[in-house]
Amino acid sequence: MLGRSAAQQQNSLTFFVVLIACIAAVSGILFGFDTGVISGAILFIKRDLNPSPFMFSVIMSSVLVGALIGSGVSGSFADFFGRKKLLVITALIFIVGTVCSALANTEWVLIISRLIVGVAIGIASFAAPLYISEVAPARYRGALVSLNQLAITIGILASYAVDVYFSHTGDWRWMFGLGVVPAVLLFFGMLALPCSPRWILLKGRTEQARRILQAIRNCEDVDHELNEIRESLCEKQDWHLLLQRWLLPALIVGLGLAFFQQCTGINTIIYFAPTIFQMAGFDSASGAISTTAIVGVANVLFTIIAIPLIDLWGRRPLLLFGLCGMGFGLLMLSISFHFGGDNSMLKWLTLASMIIYIACFAMSLGPIMWLVIAEIFPLQVRGLGSSIAISACWFFNGVVTFTFEYLIQAFGPGGTFFLYASLCLAGWVFVLRMIPETKGISLEMIENNLRAGKRSRFLGAVE
Ligand code: BGC
Repeated sequence: MLGRSAAQQQNSLTFFVVLIACIAAVSGILFGFDTGVISGAILFIKRDLNPSPFMFSVIMSSVLVGALIGSGVSGSFADFFGRKKLLVITALIFIVGTVCSALANTEWVLIISRLIVGVAIGIASFAAPLYISEVAPARYRGALVSLNQLAITIGILASYAVDVYFSHTGDWRWMFGLGVVPAVLLFFGMLALPCSPRWILLKGRTEQARRILQAIRNCEDVDHELNEIRESLCEKQDWHLLLQRWLLPALIVGLGLAFFQQCTGINTIIYFAPTIFQMAGFDSASGAISTTAIVGVANVLFTIIAIPLIDLWGRRPLLLFGLCGMGFGLLMLSISFHFGGDNSMLKWLTLASMIIYIACFAMSLGPIMWLVIAEIFPLQVRGLGSSIAISACWFFNGVVTFTFEYLIQAFGPGGTFFLYASLCLAGWVFVLRMIPETKGISLEMIENNLRAGKRSRFLGAVE
C-alpha cells in the first residue's frame, strides 16, 4: 500500500520534472520558429530566387510535406529508439536541415532542406508531448503538455523578431540560420535528460526505470507508480482495435479537430501575415513584418491566459467561444478586403481582425486540439491514434498552405477569408455535436464511456 506522503510526493511537481518539460519543449520552439520564419523570409526569397506561383507554393509547403512524413513514422521510431534518443536525433536533423536551408542557392536545394526541417518538426510534434506526458505526474499532465503549445507560439514570435531584425537587409539566410541555436540547445539538453521510465519498462529494464522515477519524483517509494505503469503495459497494444466500431467517435474527434484547427485558416495568418499586410496597404516589407510581430505577441499572451482556463472552464466552452471569435475576426477581415476603403482604414481593420482571430485561436483550437488528441484515444491505441490525428493535422496544414495563393487569385482576399469563416461555423457545429467535455474526467472513464457507446458530446460525461 502506498503511504500518503509517498502518494503526495508522486503527484507533486518537482524541479526536475519542470526542467525536463522545459528542455523537451525547446522542440516546440523549433516547431514554431521553423514554421513561422518563412512568413518574412519568403518576401526576400521571392526577390532573390524569383519562383513561379507553383514553385512558390512548393517552397511554402515543403516543410509541411516533411512534417507529414515525420509525424507518420514517429510512432514506431519512438518505440524503437525511445523518446529521449528520438528527440536527440531530431535535434540533429533540425541542425542539418537548418544549415542547408541557410546555404541553399537554388529553389530545389531550398525545397529539400525545408523538407528535412519538416521531418524534424513532424517527429518533434509527436515525440515531445509524448515524452513530457510520460514523465509528468498525472495531476499536472494537462498543463505540462500545453507548455508545448506555449513553446510553439514563443517560437513563432521569435521567428517574427528575427524576420523583423533582418528585414532591413533582406537576409533570409540568417533568418533561417538562427534556428540552429535552439536546435543545438535541444541536442545537448536532451542528451543530459533521463529516458522515459515508461519506455524503459517497455524494454523490461525495471531497476533502471525505478532509479529514473526515484530521481524525477524525488522520492524513494515509487513502487505504486511502477506497478501502475507495468499494469498498463500488460494491456495488449492492438492496432486492429482502431478499426473497431466503438472507437469510431474517438477517431472522428481526433481527425475533426485536426481538420478544423487547420482548415479555419490559422496558418494563412501565421505564414502569410506579412503578405496579407502588404495586400492591405503596408507598403514596406519591414513595416509588414513588424506588424506581424504584434500578431505573434497576441498569440503568446492569449495562450498563457488559456492554459489555466482549460482546466477551469473546460474544453468545450473554450472551443465554442474561440470558434465564434475566430469566425468573427475572419468575417471582419473578409468584409474589410471586400469593401476596400481607403488604405489607411483597411490597414488597421486588417490588424484588428487578425488580433481578434489569433487571440481566439490561442484560447481554443491552438492548445485544445493537442490536448484532446492526447486524451481521447484508449491506451492500447494511443500511439497510433494520435499519430494518425497529428499526421492529418500536417496534411490539412499542407493543403491550406498550398492552396492559399491560388484561392487569393481566384476569389480575392475577401472571398478567401469568407471561406475560412464559413469553416469556423462548421467547426462550431462539429464541436457542439461531437466533442466530449473531458475536463476533470479520468482517461479510464473516457475509455469506459467510449466502450459503452456513449457517443458524441456525452462521451466524457459522468453518468
Ligand atoms: C498549430 C500550428 C500553428 C500554431 C500557431 C499550433 O497548434 O498546430 O499549425 O501554426 O498552433 O500557434
